[in-house]
Amino acid sequence: MAFYLVTGGAGFIGSHMVEALRGRGHRVRVVDNLVTGHRRNLAHIDEVEFLEGDLADEAVARRAVEGVEYVLHQAAIPSVPRSVEDPLTSNRANIDATLSLLVAARDAGVKRVVYAGSSSAYGNAAALPKQEDMPTGPLSPYALQKLVGEQYMQMFTELYGLSTVTIRYFNVFGPRQDPSSAYSGVISLFIRHLVEGRSPTMHGDGEQTRDFTFVANVVDGALRASQAETAVSGKVINVATGSRISLNDLFHTLKRITGANVEATYGPPRAGDVRDSLADISRAKDLLGYTPLVHLEDGLRQTVAWFASTQQPTA
Ligand code: UD1
Repeated sequence: MAFYLVTGGAGFIGSHMVEALRGRGHRVRVVDNLVTGHRRNLAHIDEVEFLEGDLADEAVARRAVEGVEYVLHQAAIPSVPRSVEDPLTSNRANIDATLSLLVAARDAGVKRVVYAGSSSAYGNAAALPKQEDMPTGPLSPYALQKLVGEQYMQMFTELYGLSTVTIRYFNVFGPRQDPSSAYSGVISLFIRHLVEGRSPTMHGDGEQTRDFTFVANVVDGALRASQAETAVSGKVINVATGSRISLNDLFHTLKRITGANVEATYGPPRAGDVRDSLADISRAKDLLGYTPLVHLEDGLRQTVAWFASTQQPTA
């Protein structure tokens, strides 16, 4: 049994990590400021220590890492458009909190920090699939902030010998992804609209593509990264499926799964958007023994089932 801290553990991805860790018998502490997370995401999981607070506050970060062996750093404001509208708030959540956590983890002698990086770091790189050594090109404050976070990880490994690994996520989806804001992930928004019989908005022509990754896959990748041998330290590793789909095809697949007969409304493209995204996952295979556990359609079915189960019956 090991002792893990999951930052942002009350959020969508973080709560799945907590669930997996408790399922394997590990001790888990969560730190979350509940800006995008919810206590209800953890309600079904036993024996989780919960610390409410903002990691950018140094005292909170020090309290959070006390006695901890491994940190899964998921806490962030994970939205491209929100960062475009309010770069200061997302900078504090995505960079200040990360640096504060790293300092605290270094001083507390944490064995490894696994960081939730983002595929947005690649920007509109000319070549597909996106491979970790390609030049980065952030197109939004969010993308830049996530990239700075991973560079801080690497710097702490080089300067202070703190073991860190960055996992670059590619459009993660699944149960508990919150569809309630305009900043929510597209799959959660599309499913909610279809289940409620409303027309979702397609930003642009719908021909942009993404490597949509079911949440169980990134949980598996991150847990592997936390325990992998020392050679992974300081590395950046894509965790995704290695396949992509256009938003138009995604929408048709979701219509088929939900049985909803609704058309999308097409609007202008969104500022800061990447056109195509597809991961090369060979490094994750080589270094972590990772292979995607759940493929797109199966993941979409599980997610639709979860959304349907949380729907309030209409009177
Ligand atoms: C980006 C990052 C991803 C990060 C995520 C955090 C890339 C390639 N990916 O995802 O790593 O974790 O931010 O939010 O940059 N869309 C619609 N209608 C909607 C909502 C979205 O058409 O109602 C479109 C968007 O314009 C975009 C696509 O769907 O083209 C995906 O959007 P979203 O789910 O917000 O994620 P990304 O911005 O791709």
